[in-house]
Amino acid sequence: MTTYTVTIANRDNATYQVDARRPLLDALRDQGVDLPYGCKYGGCITCAAKLTDGQVDQRRQVALNNRQIAEGYVILCVARATSDITLEIGVESHDRLYRNPFLDPLKPHELKADVAAPKET
Ligand code: FES
Repeated sequence: MTTYTVTIANRDNATYQVDARRPLLDALRDQGVDLPYGCKYGGCITCAAKLTDGQVDQRRQVALNNRQIAEGYVILCVARATSDITLEIGVESHDRLYRNPFLDPLKPHELKADVAAPKET
């Protein structure tokens, strides 16, 4: 079994060992970390956290746009660690998750690829 170390920067750098095959949300909650969640299939964004170091596989998520991914957000209910990682969790980590679309609209390259693609006419 491959395990990685998860450091939670905004919880006094607490560390946890997680199984690389398990979603981070489950692996951390099982060890007593209080994390918000909703759908648990990668669609609602409630469980988003900010990855500040390391790598995850979150190919199954559908909640984040490219801008949010570029800011380091990860969807813990589907993301699995692929290295030792450092996270910021909870609402404190959501400072850059949302923005006002009227004041600061997304650029085409920040949208999901299927949304940004021109329509067939
Ligand atoms: S709980 Fe809904 S996206 Fe993770």
